[in-house]
Amino acid sequence: MNTAPIAPSVVVTGTGLAHPPHTVSNAELVASLAESVRIWNDAHADEIERGEVAARAVPDEEFIVKASGIRSRYVIEKEGVLDPMRMRPLLPRRSEDELGIQAEMSLPAVMDALDQAGRTPADVDAIIVGCSNLQRAYPAVSIELQDALGARGWAYDMNVACSSATFSMQAAVDALRGGSADCVVVVNPEITSGHNNFELRDFHFIFGDACTAVVLERADDAVADERWQVLGTKLATQFSNNIRNDFGFLNSSEDRTGDDRDPHELIFRQRGQQVFKEVSPMVATHIRDHLEALALDPQAIRRFWLHQANLKMNQLIAKSVLGRVPDEDEAPVVLDEFANTSSAGSVIAFHRHRADLAAGDLGVICSFGAGYSVGSVVVRKLQV
Ligand SMILES: CC(C)(COP(=O)(O)OP(=O)(O)OC[C@H]1O[C@@H](n2cnc3c(N)ncnc32)[C@H](O)[C@@H]1OP(=O)(O)O)[C@@H](O)C(=O)NCCC(=O)NCCS
Repeated sequence: MNTAPIAPSVVVTGTGLAHPPHTVSNAELVASLAESVRIWNDAHADEIERGEVAARAVPDEEFIVKASGIRSRYVIEKEGVLDPMRMRPLLPRRSEDELGIQAEMSLPAVMDALDQAGRTPADVDAIIVGCSNLQRAYPAVSIELQDALGARGWAYDMNVACSSATFSMQAAVDALRGGSADCVVVVNPEITSGHNNFELRDFHFIFGDACTAVVLERADDAVADERWQVLGTKLATQFSNNIRNDFGFLNSSEDRTGDDRDPHELIFRQRGQQVFKEVSPMVATHIRDHLEALALDPQAIRRFWLHQANLKMNQLIAKSVLGRVPDEDEAPVVLDEFANTSSAGSVIAFHRHRADLAAGDLGVICSFGAGYSVGSVVVRKLQV
């Protein structure tokens, strides 16, 4: 007789989304970068002439849509990003007495998610902030958010780059199954414009800013009108240098005044082609294996809410899992409006594109990115 305790069932009871009001179109980005490139090449004309540095290349709007599917993005601050002499957001420094920017952007997303869940901040007893970039080492953004919300229990931050949402959802599921929390909020405040490299055409178009939140509870406790049972979570990592950001607390101890270090190492960089080639099959195999372990046929999956980095990549992954190119109904796209919002992307897709599904429908939330890392959460809509 199997005497192992049965793990309690966990459900997603609400999701929330917040994004800055400012949109930046591809055309706006291309115009500012073209001007920045012209200024930079003029300033370095002699070195370029001597062959000491390469001239910077001008961007092309058509390339961006064709290569990525991205048309627009939201940014936390627009003027600085589009200023050819600056090319990064201009954010006033806040004092210790003011709410931090990541906690601030988290609040509306969390309230939105709690509202759906039929909960208030007083019900929350655990907060996990998972995102690619945290504004400081400590105190944790999640603990600041816990304080701002007036929530109980515990909170911590974690970073698994673009996979941070699914990794933090698994942590939430484990906490609920293990009994260390009753109502967990997972939050993904992504200010990618702070880590993006707007000076180089290979990177300037990739990212956008947004924050998502997910409420998870044990099924027996849930009061929400809409509930998604978590059938399983699966995480995997495999080391790669192909997506890197070397910003960290040791930077000031390293000699970065010489010409041995490129300042661009301290913000995002990637070898996009290699990432595409290596991560796509990794993700497809991951999803297939996860579904097989749950005895689910990929054809039975009503919707894939995939990480939003590249449209062609998502089509390739879904095609490999399904054996055919999925339509937008099966693998919805939010990339055109949001660009790559790192960990928030797959949750935005889930948040925006699930209302039409029926009780019993199955779906996969899947994120992937730097590390490499891949995480999948298989869910089923419950009849309430
Ligand atoms: C980033 C990405 C869209 C680039 O598309 P790509 O088809 O791989 O293009 P490449 O990087 O090979 O660049 C091809 C050429 O276009 C150029 N190019 C890049 N950006 C450009 C732009 N904005 N405008 C014009 N040309 C551009 C490149 O410099 C290169 O020129 P070259 O051939 O003269 O060297 C794509 O590789 C991608 O999305 N990869 C996956 C990224 C990912 O999933 N990351 C994980 C999550 S963070």
